Amino acid sequence: MKTNDSMYSALIDKKLVPVIKISDPDSSEQLADALITGGLSVAEVTFRTDCAAEVISRMKNSRPGMFVGAGTVLSASQVDEAVAAGADFIVSPGFDADVVRRCQQVGVPVAPGCVTPSEIMAALSLGITTVKFFPASAFGGAATIKALSAPFADVSFIPTGGIDMHNLREYTSLPCVLAVGGSFMATEKLIASKVWGEIAARTRSALSAVFTP
Ligand code: 3PG
Repeated sequence: MKTNDSMYSALIDKKLVPVIKISDPDSSEQLADALITGGLSVAEVTFRTDCAAEVISRMKNSRPGMFVGAGTVLSASQVDEAVAAGADFIVSPGFDADVVRRCQQVGVPVAPGCVTPSEIMAALSLGITTVKFFPASAFGGAATIKALSAPFADVSFIPTGGIDMHNLREYTSLPCVLAVGGSFMATEKLIASKVWGEIAARTRSALSAVFTP
């Protein structure tokens, strides 16, 4: 059974999670390859398009080394759909106890969205210590995460929303940030235009921005 520990160890290494919105499932393999070429073997495929589950399944089947999560998961039934497709982890924009409990029942790691102390406490009460912080920039950015980490010292955050090359390090420099998520490496437009070289280049640049001293 997978636990949240497997998500933690998969994400902490590279500290970046490309957030994907994709409409053409036939691009699944090439998108996976572009990310891998750029140095990342992880993706969060959002359930914002009808083909999200198919894309997860195709990425997992064709590139089994990839760690592929489902994002924008809003219901327990979507958890089931994502897990059936082979999702390695589940991300939700908000905190929903049914979604979290379903993930725990089926044994898939989950990062629910939490931006307030109360939401974090609700997550903690279900044993969750890794949360998405979304939309990060609109909720005060790195300063808010830093303030939240004072009372919640054991909580790891995955900030997402409004993060790009320019503010990436504000987040990754915080010890309580496990990884940052963002669409800037593989935007919807770049994916739709099949500009795989640009996606690989952006991914590589983001990694070097995180790890350049
Ligand atoms: C998400 O689903 O996590 C966000 O929409 C990604 O936000 P961004 O497009 O600002 O990176």
